[in-house]
Amino acid sequence: MRTKFIILAASLLVLIGAIWVTVSSNDQGAPITIVNTSVPPAPPLDTTLVREGETLYQQSCARCHGANLEGEANWRVTKEDGSLPSPPHDSSGHTWHHPDSLLLEIIANGGDPQFNSTMPGFADSLTEDEMIAILEFLKSSWKAEDREYQWWISAVEQGNTIP
Ligand code: HEC
Repeated sequence: MRTKFIILAASLLVLIGAIWVTVSSNDQGAPITIVNTSVPPAPPLDTTLVREGETLYQQSCARCHGANLEGEANWRVTKEDGSLPSPPHDSSGHTWHHPDSLLLEIIANGGDPQFNSTMPGFADSLTEDEMIAILEFLKSSWKAEDREYQWWISAVEQGNTIP
C-alpha cells in the first residue's frame, strides 16, 4: 500500500515536472510589443517550407548572396558602376529589417534600376509560393530577436495589431 502510494506520488511529480518544462519552454505564447504596439506571437517556422526554400535558394540566389547567406565581401561599399554588392540575408544583413510584403516585391520585381541595381526579378521563374518558401528559409537563419522584429514589422504593415 505504502509503496504504491510512493510510486503514485513520484509519477505525479514527474508528470507535473514535464508539464512545467513544456509550458516554460514555450515562449511563443506572448504577444510581441515594440514601441507600444502589440502584435500576435510569432508562429514557429514551417520546417518543410524551410527545406524547400533552401533548395530553391541554392538554385536561384546563392551565386550572388552566398551559399551560407553571407553576401558579397564588403557588401556595404558601393561599386564603381554605382551598384551595390549583394547583401547577406542572415542576421548580419538588413533583410530582416523589412516586412514580408517589401521582400516579396523585391524578389519578384528585382532591385531599383535607379540605383543601377543588379538584383534580378524572379516573377517569371518562381511562383509566389516558391518565393514564400525562400523567405521562410531566410527567416530560419535569423536570431530569435531579429525574427520577432521582422514578424512584428510585417504584422504592423498589414494592420494586424492587437488593440
Ligand atoms: C545577380 C545577382 C543576384 C541574384 C541572383 C539575386 N540577388 Fe538579391 N540582390 C542582389 C543585389 C546586388 C542586391 C542589392 C540591392 C540592390 O541593388 O537592389 C540584392 C538585394 C536583395 C534583397 C534586398 C535586401 C535588403 O536588405 O534590402 C533581397 C530580399 C534579395 N536580394 C533577395 C534575393 C533572392 C531571394 C534571390 C533568389 C531568388 C536573389 N536575391 C537573387 C543581387 C542578386
